[in-house]
Amino acid sequence: MNICMIGAGYVGLVSAACFSEFGWTVTCVDKDPQRLAELKDGKSPIYEPGLDDLLQRNMAAGRLLFTDNLGPAAKNADVILLAVGTPMRRGDGYADLSYVYAAVEEIAPHLKGFTVIVTKSTVPVGTSREIERRLRAARSDGDFAICSNPEFLREGSAIQDFMHPDRVLVGTDDERAKDVMGRLYQPLALRSAPVMFVGRESAELAKYAANAFLALKISFINEIADLCEQVGADVQELASAIGKDRRIGDKFLHPGPGYGGSCFPKDVSALIRTARENKSPVSLIEQVQRVNDERKIAMAHRVEAAAGGSVRGKTIAILGATFKPNTDDMRDAPSLIIVPMLQERGATVRVVDPQGRRQAEPLLPGVTWSESALEAAAGADVLVTVTEWNEFRALDLKAAKAKMRGDVLVDLRNVFTAELAHAAGFRYSAVGRKPEEIDLAPAPLALRA
Ligand code: NAI
Repeated sequence: MNICMIGAGYVGLVSAACFSEFGWTVTCVDKDPQRLAELKDGKSPIYEPGLDDLLQRNMAAGRLLFTDNLGPAAKNADVILLAVGTPMRRGDGYADLSYVYAAVEEIAPHLKGFTVIVTKSTVPVGTSREIERRLRAARSDGDFAICSNPEFLREGSAIQDFMHPDRVLVGTDDERAKDVMGRLYQPLALRSAPVMFVGRESAELAKYAANAFLALKISFINEIADLCEQVGADVQELASAIGKDRRIGDKFLHPGPGYGGSCFPKDVSALIRTARENKSPVSLIEQVQRVNDERKIAMAHRVEAAAGGSVRGKTIAILGATFKPNTDDMRDAPSLIIVPMLQERGATVRVVDPQGRRQAEPLLPGVTWSESALEAAAGADVLVTVTEWNEFRALDLKAAKAKMRGDVLVDLRNVFTAELAHAAGFRYSAVGRKPEEIDLAPAPLALRA
């Protein structure tokens, strides 16, 4: 089977590499010359565990190719997958579909023979129908079907997620397209992955509903964590207790500085827009968005309160900039709110991130970058965990404290325990913990909004 993947980003690149691992011939098309140059050198332009090996193996086998020349790739393809970005549109918060429609316009002249065109990008409900309308207008002679096939992989475990999905969702009612998509995913189906065929609208909306539900779960536990602090409960005890109920599940019950990343914020925003446009508002999800926006701001206030009420003239060491561990993705990361707020309030900020520096550097002007957590801690007044990278879990807190000027540890990811922090001589602040474990009270509610 010949596959053309348009977009070699987090989704396109991982999917292309995994499809080629199945034995399919995949040509991945991207417009970014720097990205292509790195890829042609066998190097991944993004950090994703295991991706370099997968790329090199399949490129060497001649099944995985990278190009900026769409024509031949599209002409020879049985399946063309669109994996271009659908970022949040400035102004109205809707999904910016300009990359999707530009790609559709580009493929139109090259379609030859029956071709299945697949939206792997997250697109609002109705987009596949609109792509079909545009392509039929451009190519009335064309023989093609448009499918929705939203991707559910997570950055940081993308290869594992692609290879072992909870389900593969295909939205189409075209029988020929079902056959082609069934063949495309046969290697996964043979390994017992459920391949579900549904209507296009259901597939498109399911992706947004899934992300909105996960965002809701995060905001829920964040608010419960705040309540725990006020009433003497421990959010981790509570989360493991409620998580045992299979109707609730134990995933996504870790409180922290709010959700970020390339998907949840923009997908929540786009769903809100779609729902309003269709006169069926998702008021619960609108509230989730508000709670999450406030959460990031509240975390900066929490650091300020822990620092004694002001960070002016203080040095803050930030452990982790990316929105989660095992990725270099900085899109909508909580650090992008927390760090500038601390700087505006007069703090000097040092940041260490195992993989995120390249992407974070232009987004966090005025910070000093450190090579290690210990280097960041040297001379700092406050140490703050913002991303729970494993290497921070292994940090020798005693050694870090010995290098610091101050003695405050604000653990926004509950990486450490009060016992460890106290043994190292820190005054400790964490999220949703019992008052007896916490020396530094969070900011009063009035300060948080
Ligand atoms: P990305 O921004 O990392 O990659 C998009 C790529 O498309 C870029 O390399 C860009 O140069 C390329 N591109 C744009 N227009 C092009 C064109 N006309 N021809 C060729 N290349 C073009 O985006 P990412 O994160 O991979 O997301 C892609 C889609 O997948 C989005 O809709 C996103 O919501 C969705 N998604 C993302 C996930 C993630 O974890 N990043 C997970 C699940 C879905």
